[in-house]
Amino acid sequence: MNNGDVSQGRRRFLIGATSVVGGVGVVGAAVPFVASWNPSAKAEAAGAPVSVNVSKLDPGQQMTVEWRGKPVWIIRRTDEMNENIRKLDERVKDPLSEDATQPAYIDNELRALKDDYAVLVGICTHLGCSPTFRPEVAPADLGDNWLGGFYCACHGSRFDLAGRVFPRMPAPTNLEVPPYRFDDDNTLTVGLDPEGAA
Ligand code: FES
Repeated sequence: MNNGDVSQGRRRFLIGATSVVGGVGVVGAAVPFVASWNPSAKAEAAGAPVSVNVSKLDPGQQMTVEWRGKPVWIIRRTDEMNENIRKLDERVKDPLSEDATQPAYIDNELRALKDDYAVLVGICTHLGCSPTFRPEVAPADLGDNWLGGFYCACHGSRFDLAGRVFPRMPAPTNLEVPPYRFDDDNTLTVGLDPEGAA
């Protein structure tokens, strides 16, 4: 069982960037994305499914686990977050993820088996940086239109809270959704389909 790394959503993992918010200098440490998630057992890195206890995630929180050497984010979305995703259907580039990498059973705008849990591969589809979880609405540095999402500091790509990319961004497609299933209310397994196939 992998308990992952819970983020409060306020931490910044800026890569080679600094930002100024509200006149107060906030310097993000230049931390490679690997520092933001936990190394896990050898078997997990080799590609085995990863079971995660999501019961410690509060609404609005993100956790990160490793699957096949990649960071996989699990975000417990609130009703407000999901409403905001739906408001962005007209603004994102590929609202129904027709060009995205995701399992066939992920087929709605929220891109999830259960609306309140997003599961996304945390790697930008541009050149592979790990975007930052920015759930706040209208933060000073991202603008009044920002309804929560993920921001890639490497070249500025923006994604909503379903991992859907906005138009005219360097990233060409939505973030990837890995295969996953729920084993019970508190246990999610990344790397297995609901039918059990790897
Ligand atoms: S790697 Fe994310 S915008 Fe380039």
